[in-house]
Parts: sequence; structure tokens; C-alpha cells
Amino acid sequence: MKKAIPVLVIVFAFVFILAAYSQDFTYVGSAKCKTCHKSEKRGQQYPLWEARQHSKSFAALSTDKAKELSPDTPAAENPKCLKCHGPTEGFKEEGVTCETCHGPGSAYKKLSIMKDHAQSVANGLTDFKSADEIKKQCLSCHADAHESSFDFASAWEKVKHPVPEGE
Ligand code: HEC
Ligand code: HEC
Ligand code: HEC
Ligand code: HEC
Repeated sequence: MKKAIPVLVIVFAFVFILAAYSQDFTYVGSAKCKTCHKSEKRGQQYPLWEARQHSKSFAALSTDKAKELSPDTPAAENPKCLKCHGPTEGFKEEGVTCETCHGPGSAYKKLSIMKDHAQSVANGLTDFKSADEIKKQCLSCHADAHESSFDFASAWEKVKHPVPEGE
């Protein structure tokens, strides 16, 4: 019986490591982010997003223009359109949502983790290290969108949502 203990310890350690590595971060939806990211003091990220175009990009797929662009398949079900207009698994109706840019929030949304950048990144938060990396993210959709031009600097001015200085 005594000999079985170290074996069990090894088995448990193995299972634990496996579980840690196969941990899947999942999308939780913007309502979860709203709880902590709506106040003026914190920078009103949710109300700002709600007022801007990204939150309306899925709705745009029900317009007459969308029908013209996707004549054979309803645009709201066309993967070619959803790729940019509603890409977030389980939350396509939220359009280009918080987690589209920031990564799936199931693990990083906890307050104790959110307060720590390194821990947030280890738990699924996208790490933007420079303006160039932000631009790259934008261009993943804006580089070739209906042949419209995209000026990163002015576009970022329109959608940025910083935490106020001193917070
Ligand atoms: C329990 C409260 C809480 C929830 C829920 C929450 N956050 Fe946060 N988040 C914070 C706090 C606190 C900070 C630290 C900055 C601050 O004081 O506003 C933060 C910081 C961030 C940052 C900057 C982090 C960094 O290190 O660069 C991002 C991006 C962010 N949150 C996105 C999200 C998204 C997306 C969601 C939803 C999936 C979410 N948060 C849910 C409380 C929360
Ligand atoms: C590569 C990313 C991308 C793809 C793929 C894409 N779109 Fe768009 N779409 C955009 C962007 C970015 C804009 C906003 C800039 C602009 O108007 O050119 C936009 C704008 C629109 C608009 C106008 C929105 C408004 O508020 O007036 C409609 C309608 C639209 N797209 C429908 C579609 C349909 C339907 C499809 C699929 C056939 C599609 N899009 C595929 C990125 C994309
Ligand atoms: C997942 C795809 C996607 C990503 C990533 C993305 N966008 Fe968009 N963006 C869109 C779509 C789709 C629209 C059109 C929404 C509509 O009008 O219905 C749009 C609209 C906009 C608009 C409003 C159009 C206008 O001219 O007023 C701005 C500004 C914008 N995006 C800036 C950015 C910036 C800056 C980034 C990077 C931080 C970014 N976007 C990342 C898909 C994306
Ligand atoms: C189009 C992409 C995009 C969308 C949509 C988006 N964000 Fe961001 N967000 C960014 C980028 C890029 C940054 C800048 C990151 C940096 O500078 O490190 C940022 C910064 C932040 C910050 C940190 C601000 C600071 O000053 O430290 C918070 C908090 C945040 N976002 C929360 C949210 C929440 C909540 C939502 C949804 C309601 C959301 N974001 C939607 C791209 C996006």
C-alpha cells in the first residue's frame, strides 16, 4: 500500500500539469466587462464602445447594402462577412466586441488578475506591446475592407478608450 503513494503523487502531478496546459480560455461576452468598465472614473470603456460603430457591425449585416454585398447567403450567416463583422465565437451579435480585440475573458476577468498586467496576459489578455502591434490588429480587418482606405492614427483617435490619468 505504501508504495502506491509516490505513484499516485506522480499521476496527480501529471494530471495537474496536463490540465494547466490544456486550459481553454473562452469568451464571456461584453456584459461581463461592463460591470467594471463603465464608470467615468475608470474611463467608460463600455458606454464608449456601445456608442461607436464596432458595436453595430453585426447589425450592419441586416441592411439593404449588406443584401447587395451578400446576395446568395443572408449576410448575418455568411462566414465571409462574419469574419470582420461578428468574429467572436458565441457572441457574433455583439459585432467587434471587447474580447475580439482583448482576447477571451473567462480567466482574466477576475479582479485580482485584472489588476496585474502580467497575470492578465498569462490568463488570455492580448498583450499590445507597441502602437505597431495595435495597428496590426486593426489591419487584420481594415486592410482590405470594401476597398476603403484606413488611416491608423485618426482611426485610433476615434475608438481609443483610455483609463483616465492618475487611476
Ligand atoms: C471585476 C472587475 C473587472 C471585470 C469583470 C473586467 N475588468 Fe478589465 N480591468 C479591471 C481593473 C480594476 C483593471 C485595472 C485598470 C483600471 O483600474 O481600470 C482592468 C484593466 C483592464 C485592461 C487593461 C489591462 C492591462 O493590463 O493592459 C483591459 C484591456 C481590460 N481590463 C479589459 C477587460 C475586458 C475585455 C473584460 C471583459 C472580458 C474585463 N476587462 C472585465 C476590472 C475588471
Ligand atoms: C476584411 C473585413 C471585412 C469583410 C470581410 C467584410 N466587411 Fe463589411 N465592413 C468592414 C469595415 C472595416 C467597414 C467600415 C469601413 C467602410 O465602410 O468601408 C465595413 C462596412 C460595411 C457596411 C457599411 C456599414 C455601415 O454602418 O454603413 C456594410 C453594410 C458591410 N460592411 C457589409 C458587409 C457584408 C455583407 C460582407 C460580406 C459579404 C462584409 N461586409 C465583409 C469590414 C469588412
Ligand atoms: C474584427 C475586425 C475589426 C477589427 C480587429 C477592427 N475593426 Fe474597426 N471596424 C470593423 C468593422 C466591421 C467596422 C464597420 C462597422 C459598421 O459601420 O457597421 C469597423 C469600423 C471602424 C471605425 C468606424 C468607421 C469610420 O470611419 O467611422 C473605426 C474608426 C475603426 N473601425 C477603427 C478601428 C481601429 C483603430 C482598430 C484597431 C484598434 C479596429 N478598428 C479594429 C472591423 C474591425
Ligand atoms: C477594436 C479593438 C478594441 C475593442 C473593440 C475594445 N478595445 Fe479596449 N483597447 C484596445 C487597444 C488596442 C487598447 C490599447 C492597449 C494598450 O495601449 O496597451 C485598449 C485599451 C483598453 C483598456 C486599457 C486602457 C488604459 O488606458 O490602460 C481597457 C480597460 C479596455 N481597453 C477595455 C475595453 C472594454 C471593456 C471593451 C468593450 C466594451 C473594449 N476595450 C473594446 C482595443 C479594443
